[in-house]
Amino acid sequence: MIFTSQHLLSVKDISLEAIHSLFAVAEQMRPYANREKVTRVLEGAVLGNMFFEPSTRTRVSFGSAFNLLGGEVRETTGLSNSALAKGESLYDTAQVLSGYSDVIVMRHPEPYSVEQFATGSRVPVINGGDGANEHPTQALLDLFTIKNELSSLGKDIADLRLTLLGDLKHGRTVHSLCHLLSLYKGLKVQLVSPKALALPQKYIDMLTNAGHDVQTGDNLESGLSKANVIYQTRIQEERFSTKEEADQYKGYFRLNKQIYSQHCQPDTVIMHPLPRDSRGNANELDNDLNKEPGLAIFRQTDNGVLVRMALFACILGVENQLAAYERKVNWQVGVR
Ligand code: CP
Repeated sequence: MIFTSQHLLSVKDISLEAIHSLFAVAEQMRPYANREKVTRVLEGAVLGNMFFEPSTRTRVSFGSAFNLLGGEVRETTGLSNSALAKGESLYDTAQVLSGYSDVIVMRHPEPYSVEQFATGSRVPVINGGDGANEHPTQALLDLFTIKNELSSLGKDIADLRLTLLGDLKHGRTVHSLCHLLSLYKGLKVQLVSPKALALPQKYIDMLTNAGHDVQTGDNLESGLSKANVIYQTRIQEERFSTKEEADQYKGYFRLNKQIYSQHCQPDTVIMHPLPRDSRGNANELDNDLNKEPGLAIFRQTDNGVLVRMALFACILGVENQLAAYERKVNWQVGVR
């Protein structure tokens, strides 16, 4: 397997062949993630889950994924709670933490910091998000979700008509997704953002050079009508110099049931890397969409566990041993 004993720092390192192999392993993780069976294939292994920037789903889903494979998780959260706040280098931190772990996931606010950290690590390092640069595992789970959602509509990736919506300048999930989409050919991609938050030119070039039909604009309604998948992003206020600067874009694109019903084709899939900003001045994906079958945001977060389980299994070289360590669960699953 291509991922075995490798760092995952950037989606630039990933081939289409590797993605398809990874997704095949992710599909095998469903019975474990759905609590129909447990596997203890990583019993005794330790994940160092190092989050130096806020996170809910990436941190917890990486931890859950490792636990579901039978491994244990050690965590650090927040720069101020770590010795980085005392001036320790990323290299030294990596040397230390890699002595305690079999694999490390790290998120950090500075672009390329995870790459720098990896130079000091003796175990594989996975990038959980480095500033506005990249979020490789989010892009993988987003692509996995796009493929699954299209498949449930009887379509495949070649049929994709994707609208990327919101803060495309700072959204690292969008940047990483553009890399993965550029591995395909001839897709239709619309980029809808306020002009000041447009997708950086290098990503537009990447999509265009892959032969995709790329359209840009700043009008919400016209960006919706041709899409079969909408991918909305939050205004990334933590990447602006001041809160006031970010606030002027809050609420610029609000998607609600009325707009969705009026401007989107039936069955249009709605994705968002989350968190969605549900505060009154933003309200970017309205709660009145929560029962809409096309709203895929929580299928997307569930898929994050499958893809991250697959990554751990492949990186640690146990993807062919899952069943040898499995048994049925002893407890009742879900609510009646
Ligand atoms: N999508 C994502 O990265 O969410 P968190 O910031 O909660 O991890």
